[in-house]
Amino acid sequence: MEAVINKWNHIYSRTDQERYPATQVLTENEFLLPLTGDVLDLACGLGANAVFLAERGLAVTAWDISFVAIDKLKDYAVQQGLNINACQEKIAAASFIQCSFDVIVVSRFLDRTLSDAIIGALRPGGLLFYQTFTREKVSPEPPNNPDYLLTENELLTQFSPLRLIFYRENALIGNQLRGLRNEAQFIGRKRN
Ligand SMILES: C[S@@+](CC[C@H](N)C(=O)[O-])C[C@H]1O[C@@H](n2cnc3c(N)ncnc32)[C@H](O)[C@@H]1O
Repeated sequence: MEAVINKWNHIYSRTDQERYPATQVLTENEFLLPLTGDVLDLACGLGANAVFLAERGLAVTAWDISFVAIDKLKDYAVQQGLNINACQEKIAAASFIQCSFDVIVVSRFLDRTLSDAIIGALRPGGLLFYQTFTREKVSPEPPNNPDYLLTENELLTQFSPLRLIFYRENALIGNQLRGLRNEAQFIGRKRN
């Protein structure tokens, strides 16, 4: 685990907040967000999703294993006066005990052991926005370890207890220069 922390700390020592836009599944479906509530940006990195959500008046919790990323996000939140509670956390199912959220956002992160805990941490009516890489991606850029890449329709299976609100996975069909070719997008809602 030390190697994972060092790897991400090294990456985030070289990068800035401004370089990371919020994930498309969130920005393109912003109209689905509640006007108030508690949200979690899971494995937030420099926190582009956290910032996007806090700018819309939501109370944001942001977790990541990299303390470099978390320190940068904390500084940015203070500078910008944003309501973001950023915490260094090695995320595991136990991280969600006694936590509940109206919205959870996960982008470019996949840990299959967390699915039940994510669903459990959503409040009734709560929304999960998820976007991450697929095995059928077109780009040769990392990640390429299949452990971190979604199989066909996997988000639909992992989060099947949620009511499906939106799903997109373009696979390798048609003109591969167009469309969403490297990632799948999912939005689900916890039933009341
Ligand atoms: C590809 S980055 C994505 C960051 C951000 N969600 C985004 O979309 O820009 C993956 C993130 O997962 C974090 N991470 C990896 N393993 C983790 C773990 N076990 N617990 C918490 N964070 C972890 C890394 O530090 C990194 O910030």
